[in-house]
Amino acid sequence: MPASHVMDVESLARELNAAIAGEVRANEPMSAHTTFGLGGPADLFVTAVSRSDLQAVLEFCRDRKVPVLPVGDGSNLLVSDTGVRGALVKLGGKFDQLSLRGEEFTAGAGAGISQAIAAAASGGLGGLEVLYGVPGSVGGGVYMNAGTRHGWLSDILLSAEIVDQDGASRSAAPRDLEMSYRHSALQEMDPAPFVVSAVFGLRAEEGSTVRERISALARDRRGAQPLNWRSCGCMFRNPDGDSAGRLIDAAGLKGMRVGAVEVSEKHANFFVHRGEATAFDVYRLAMKVKRRVAEETGVDLKLEVRLLGDWPDE
Ligand code: EPU
Repeated sequence: MPASHVMDVESLARELNAAIAGEVRANEPMSAHTTFGLGGPADLFVTAVSRSDLQAVLEFCRDRKVPVLPVGDGSNLLVSDTGVRGALVKLGGKFDQLSLRGEEFTAGAGAGISQAIAAAASGGLGGLEVLYGVPGSVGGGVYMNAGTRHGWLSDILLSAEIVDQDGASRSAAPRDLEMSYRHSALQEMDPAPFVVSAVFGLRAEEGSTVRERISALARDRRGAQPLNWRSCGCMFRNPDGDSAGRLIDAAGLKGMRVGAVEVSEKHANFFVHRGEATAFDVYRLAMKVKRRVAEETGVDLKLEVRLLGDWPDE
């Protein structure tokens, strides 16, 4: 869908808005939907609030050949300043529901990971808090196989429900999703499927015990990560057996800047922005860091954040 067809985008948005209970916005700045607070406009930014909404959005976009891309809370996205074409679809409403039955905890893909952790603790279930501090939604967490040094999402996931862009749905176990460090097979599927919910296998525990563990994790994280600045969490994946933060630090790159974007002095795998930054500044800083780390250590760091829209070749 060419960006110049602004009128087309607006009339598509009106038409789709009339067909679903959720919301459709045309030319929506992605700076409002990413934790970095950066990024140009999405042609269409859609919030689907129910299964029937999602089916209607998929059908509408299929008929009109509008590319569809699922998005979560934008904590792992770097959107180009020139924006992104097609429809970015976020799940909300009924997709935010959380429920527990025995030691099984079901979370809608639109729910925040932090909300899910709090709800599990209140329901007397422990285990999900290994993800404490991971920003983003449950759906994004499954897609990325989010994790911390205390555990990965795939360790506690029993199954995820997936809806393909042709509308077919299926339940998949972590094994079917080939989950490994920051990887699921969903990342290689084109067009990208939607994770609509996830079932976790947790264990019965006193809520207060779980909450004490959460407080300790919160303290550790505040001590180690620059949480007062906007970022998208870790920029690079950890290479096998090492830490991207340690490598960037050892290469002496803390404090390196492009424009208003800086390699955090507190944790070198976080890029923070202070002031008028652009997504392109983040990208240029990432490429500089990647080059310098390769020169100094021979390690080729891979981005953990997902680039959307147009970017120069590396
Ligand atoms: N380190 C440095 N300098 C730094 C940063 C880290 O020397 O600037 C050293 C630390 O001292 C430590 C090692 O590197 O010995 C590992 O650091 P840390 O414990 O902070 O963990 P990490 O591997 O950098 C991972 C996840 C984080 C998660 C933390 C805590 C990745 C890419 N990052 O970080 O996840 O919060 O563990 O469990 O796997 C994210 O993915 O967005 C994220 C924040």
